[in-house]
Amino acid sequence: PAGFTILAIETSCDETAAAVIRDGREIVANSVASQIDIHQRYGGVVPEVASRQHILTITPVINTVLAQVPGGWSAINAVATTYGPGLAGALLTGINTAKAIAWSRNLPFIGVNHLEGHIYASWLHTAKDLAYQAPEFPCVALIVSGGHTALVLLNDHGDYRLLGQTRDDAVGEAFDKVARIMGLGYPGGPQMEKVARGVNPGALKLPRAWLRGTYDWSFSGLKTAVLNVVNDRLGERMEKVKLAEVDPAFTAQLAAAFQDSAVDVLVQKTVAAAREYKAKTIILAGGVAANTALRERLSATAKPIPVAYPPIWLCTDNAAMIGAAAYYRYQAGVQQDWSLDATPSLKL
Ligand code: KG4
Ligand code: ZN
Repeated sequence: PAGFTILAIETSCDETAAAVIRDGREIVANSVASQIDIHQRYGGVVPEVASRQHILTITPVINTVLAQVPGGWSAINAVATTYGPGLAGALLTGINTAKAIAWSRNLPFIGVNHLEGHIYASWLHTAKDLAYQAPEFPCVALIVSGGHTALVLLNDHGDYRLLGQTRDDAVGEAFDKVARIMGLGYPGGPQMEKVARGVNPGALKLPRAWLRGTYDWSFSGLKTAVLNVVNDRLGERMEKVKLAEVDPAFTAQLAAAFQDSAVDVLVQKTVAAAREYKAKTIILAGGVAANTALRERLSATAKPIPVAYPPIWLCTDNAAMIGAAAYYRYQAGVQQDWSLDATPSLKL
């Protein structure tokens, strides 16, 4: 294909992913191999298991996307990978694979911050919707995932400022932990949303941590509040039964109240920041951006500021978003040498 085409790899957590992206925006091919089934039986991601699974899966996933690219390998102009933040062993698989391909094919090698990738999911489109407009700067981006909750001001490509972040649990992590307390499955976010759907969130009152005067969040108090409610409800049965099994109606009310509280603080602060910095677009990114209550409340509250959110398959971890971010980094002259290493706590 014509244009500048990047093969991108993402292995920072529990998805083994590859994609081919043209000119930073068009998804030519995309493949994600999820490890959820494997980690489910442990109730969370086991880093060592994730690393081993990435090693087994990365080559087939890359071959899958390459098979969908007209011209195959000859069409690839650069190789990109996530190098942090994430699990060290998991990141290493993607980095070493990308290095090996770039070195052997003599292609530029581009390292991408996973969070920047989530933001750039809003630049992507498929061949079917070429008319999709990229977000307009300045943007305020809310990144909500299992590992992160951050509010970022973007004045231009590569020009970021962190406005606020969580002081304790990431919001996706809070969704997952609360789901576990209530006896819902892993990953908890989608399960919580499912049981809360259509349920009045006002039946139970849960706290909101406003941390006034900042764009920071805190979710650990909310999580503890849920634990206390479940403790009170189950009493000495706490260790023996799952709330979701013995009391589904109450579980739904509690899930709805939790979701309402989390969404409320996320939306209020994001919209306040967007107004303060005169944002032309609000970008919603990361796995929790798949949450319908969050999407709807943010869009309604932000009016008239438009909210850009990618389709759900681009909200959760994928390599297409890494290819988009890589393109704009490369345009700005960024390129890595072979010394690039996994950086588990990489900052934006
Ligand atoms: O971005 P992501 O795929 O991986 C990380 O980088 O963390 O995000 C995964 C997180 C998990 O905590 C999951 O429970 C949450 O996103 N999540 C949701 C929903 N779908 C995924 N949280 C709330 N509602 C959802 N519908
Ligand atoms: Zn992620």
